[in-house]
Amino acid sequence: MTDRIEAAGPFAGRLVAWQRLHGRHDLPWQQTADPYRVWLSEVMLQQTQVVTVLGYFDRFLQRFPDVFSLADAPPDDVLALWSGLGYYSRARNLHRCAQVIVNRYGGTFPSDVASLQALPGIGPSTAAAIAAFCFSQRVTIFDGNVKRVVARYTGFADDLSVRANELSLLAHANALLPPPDRQVDMPAYTQGLMDLGATLCTRHQPRCQVCPLQQDCLANLTQRQQALPCKTKRLVRKTQDWFVLIAIRPDGAVWLMRRPPTGIWASLYAFPVAASLGTLLAQARLQDGEKVSHLPSFTHSLTHLDMVIRPVCVAVQPGWSFPTDDQPAHGGEWVQPGGELSLGVPVPVKRLMAGLASGVERGSRV
Ligand code: ADE
Repeated sequence: MTDRIEAAGPFAGRLVAWQRLHGRHDLPWQQTADPYRVWLSEVMLQQTQVVTVLGYFDRFLQRFPDVFSLADAPPDDVLALWSGLGYYSRARNLHRCAQVIVNRYGGTFPSDVASLQALPGIGPSTAAAIAAFCFSQRVTIFDGNVKRVVARYTGFADDLSVRANELSLLAHANALLPPPDRQVDMPAYTQGLMDLGATLCTRHQPRCQVCPLQQDCLANLTQRQQALPCKTKRLVRKTQDWFVLIAIRPDGAVWLMRRPPTGIWASLYAFPVAASLGTLLAQARLQDGEKVSHLPSFTHSLTHLDMVIRPVCVAVQPGWSFPTDDQPAHGGEWVQPGGELSLGVPVPVKRLMAGLASGVERGSRV
């Protein structure tokens, strides 16, 4: 299969024209060149879909309208606003990054990719997005969607599990950028790449018949859309049981513990968890008697892990507390499931709390 390095051909012009006519223009992080907003949206969008981010972006900005307010905030307040978005290291890095921008740069974002990329939580693609959207720099974003668009367009068939091949695809992507005298097009071009990858050049059913690049796209011309991009090594997924203990006091409050500062759900509040029911009950010094009821289990998927959440409810006496002598105590709180949650909690805990609050849980469904 031949591929080609395209120098300033029709790609960029067609993509920009298409984006202006058919791309997305009404997302709340568009129509701005404010690096704070663009940075926040890009970090939220790193592993999360647009529809989910929409529910968080405005709320986050209301509480932290600029980089100074974010840098000043207690870390727990940032985590609480991030609750439910997942991949919480993003929130911790966001907070650290705000502090670096305030302390090292006086609150003004740097405009070059190298300085941006040196900041906590900003990888090559996020740095490129900020540089392109806010400063019209000629740098390419290079996330999964963009790799697919560029590999198909240029007919790039080498295995992207190999780093050297990925770098050579990046060279193709760089060669497709708008020419230096069209730097002004960089925001529309960057958004166009994202929009095309998300709406037309999708992984399984690309809509080539309405694509602005169809007449030059090598994958389309040779009908190799399904074969490209080529990536042989896929992520190895694991499955793990997570038994969670929902200890319910007579007044309905449930016990949430702060998780250790590293690992899954680091520093968030969650029900006590263990890999087996026996371990969980032993840790809680409870027995699998009639007071224990099992709620339906469900799966919560991370990038590399399917967590099978197995909730166990126990009615405990008013004086009961979770024993912490055999593990480091990170603190905890009794929380009413229906109340306003000011703690950072992961999605499955949020889901279980909502089930408890709506009253359908005990012994039945969450
Ligand atoms: N994914 C990452 N960045 C995005 C953006 N600016 N718009 C839509 N989806 C995105």
